[in-house]
Amino acid sequence: MKNRRLFFALWPTDAVRAQLAAEAQAHAALGRAIPARNLHVTAVFLGAVPEERRARVQESAQSAQKLTFGGKFMLHLEHIEFWRRSHLICLTAERAPPELLSIVDGLRAGLRERGFELREHETFRPHVTLVRDVARGPAAASGIAPVQWLVESFALVESQVGQRGSEYTVLDRWLLT
Ligand code: 2AM
Repeated sequence: MKNRRLFFALWPTDAVRAQLAAEAQAHAALGRAIPARNLHVTAVFLGAVPEERRARVQESAQSAQKLTFGGKFMLHLEHIEFWRRSHLICLTAERAPPELLSIVDGLRAGLRERGFELREHETFRPHVTLVRDVARGPAAASGIAPVQWLVESFALVESQVGQRGSEYTVLDRWLLT
């Protein structure tokens, strides 16, 4: 039976994607910039999921969607950070919106109830990975114009490794209304 490598994510609109891509390009000299089409905020990483368990993933998403209060929300991404241990440059949020925390908590709880073992124990830190394989961070903390992202849905995404590196496909979306 086929396994798919899955994760839940916030998937940007074209306008937000363009802003994120500009930030990735601005720091591209420091490592390997993520292509514009791949930029996202990971909510919950699942890893390899057998096809027969896909329905349980969908159910978890539906239960998380019902738990979210207030519907859509603004995510302000305002800081460029160098994550030394993982060799990443990320765009981060000073404050995780409560709506986003409730989606992540709801997904984690729903998945665990349905038998998924998640490796994530740490506090969720919303971020967009912009550049990988970074040996040294930017010389100075660079202030940027904050990216203001109106989040209206969350998505289930498949990751496949192809000739062009990781290829992501949005399999499904749940609206926040
Ligand atoms: P990140 O880049 O936002 O940190 C798809 O593979 C996405 O899932 C990646 O962009 C990465 O998010 C996240 N991811 C990959 N492997 C992971 C792991 N083992 N644990 C947690 N998140 C992971």
